[in-house]
Amino acid sequence: MGDKVHYSELGLVNTRDMFKRAVGGGYAIPAYNFNNLEQLQAIVGACAETSSPVIIQVSKGARDYANETMLRFMAMGAVKMAREMGSNIPICLHLDHGDSFELCKACVDSGFSSVMIDGSHLSYDDNVALTRKVVEYAHAQDVTVEGELGVLAGIEDEVVAEHSTYTKPEEVEDFVRKTGVDSLAISIGTSHGAYKFKLKEGEQVPPLRFDILDEIERRIPGFPIVLHGASSVVPEYVGLINQYGGKMEGAVGVPEEQLRRAAQSAVCKINIDSDGRLAVTARVREFLAQNPGEFDPRKYLGAARKELIKLIKHKNQAVLGSAGKA
Ligand code: G3H
Ligand code: 13P
Ligand code: ZN
Repeated sequence: MGDKVHYSELGLVNTRDMFKRAVGGGYAIPAYNFNNLEQLQAIVGACAETSSPVIIQVSKGARDYANETMLRFMAMGAVKMAREMGSNIPICLHLDHGDSFELCKACVDSGFSSVMIDGSHLSYDDNVALTRKVVEYAHAQDVTVEGELGVLAGIEDEVVAEHSTYTKPEEVEDFVRKTGVDSLAISIGTSHGAYKFKLKEGEQVPPLRFDILDEIERRIPGFPIVLHGASSVVPEYVGLINQYGGKMEGAVGVPEEQLRRAAQSAVCKINIDSDGRLAVTARVREFLAQNPGEFDPRKYLGAARKELIKLIKHKNQAVLGSAGKA
């Protein structure tokens, strides 16, 4: 374990102010997952260029991959990079899908400004108890906490859920009051990964359960809601991947119009990981297929980074509405 550091020393901010403005402003803060240098450069560069507040988020698996100490300095470097670009965008470093008190505590202690404790697979009472414990520890350091009610189908790190369970609106008030969380992730029909819906020939993606979202908003007005599993699974990238040797048949995500509608509601944080992965994979596959003699990682990762910048600018400007809100 590394030395203790508070996020404010790294130039980071928690989510409180970002969410307050987003809830009233009809847009959502983008939360982009990252594991490596090129992804982080692209996220911060694109958000600085579009003047968007941003949450850079790390899953448990990403933290193991990148190394806790390395992550701290990467986040500090991200803030410095934005400032050197002449941008003052707020940047939050967030733990995505924390699965234990110990992991959340370690992240608070190593400079994260926000953590998610995902007790959605536990019983309601155990979820409340675990979330409350994390909130008490995190709030003492002014670190904000995201909880989750309802289960998304798909893979969340090592946890695989076959079926989703929609959030029960009748539980949200009690959960928020008992736990003291700062934001709440809900389940309204999205799922993680690149295969969100199984569609038969000619079938359209079903609409998200906006009725459940509306009922949640009615019960906890103005409370920040988080939408996970919100990648669109951009068809152009799936096409490139399949064209250049990949095999991703049937990959499908949430249409952008639905995300735009969510961003205008109480949803004030939208999580995107898969689209970034697809952008990188598409351009790396294409580049290597077209340049078989090339072996400099800067070339193919540079092509991937360029695509990621384009994707993130588009999301901020045309989908989440966070561009210009920093
Ligand atoms: O919600 C899951 C995120 O996409 C993180 O995925 O656990 O493979 O890093 P990961
Ligand atoms: P996607 O797999 O749809 O990108 O969702 C990411 C996510 O919810 C991270 O927590
Ligand atoms: Zn998620």
